[in-house]
Amino acid sequence: MEVAVARVGMPRKWVFVCINERPPEHPRPSCIRNGSAGLFEAIREETGRLGLVDIKVVASGCLEPCMVGPAIYVAPDDVWYGGVTVDDVPAICQQHLADDEPVEFLRIGRPEFELSPLAGRSDLPPGMIPPA
Ligand code: FES
Repeated sequence: MEVAVARVGMPRKWVFVCINERPPEHPRPSCIRNGSAGLFEAIREETGRLGLVDIKVVASGCLEPCMVGPAIYVAPDDVWYGGVTVDDVPAICQQHLADDEPVEFLRIGRPEFELSPLAGRSDLPPGMIPPA
């Protein structure tokens, strides 16, 4: 019979999964509308299945790279992921969280944070400068 082992002490990694929701009419997308609730649950289940009791999965508010969500931040590795789907969860959990090798094709960085839904729009209120 398998015995469950409770985690004790400080986690080895934290996985912040954005589950922020905005109204549909909001110009910025929000991760929960792109499937992050299922993603959060899938990561929790997979870390549990792998016995990664030293990984803390946290539901987070907006992490800022909304244009490429669902967004995930892994600390203390300082690794950002964007556009993550449930299909990516096994690789993230095994390769990164268990084996410490980030999943390169999912990584995002500063350029993705600077994307804006207002870029190029000419219908902004007077005085509002659209981002480049
Ligand atoms: S809404 Fe998820 S990063 Fe902003």
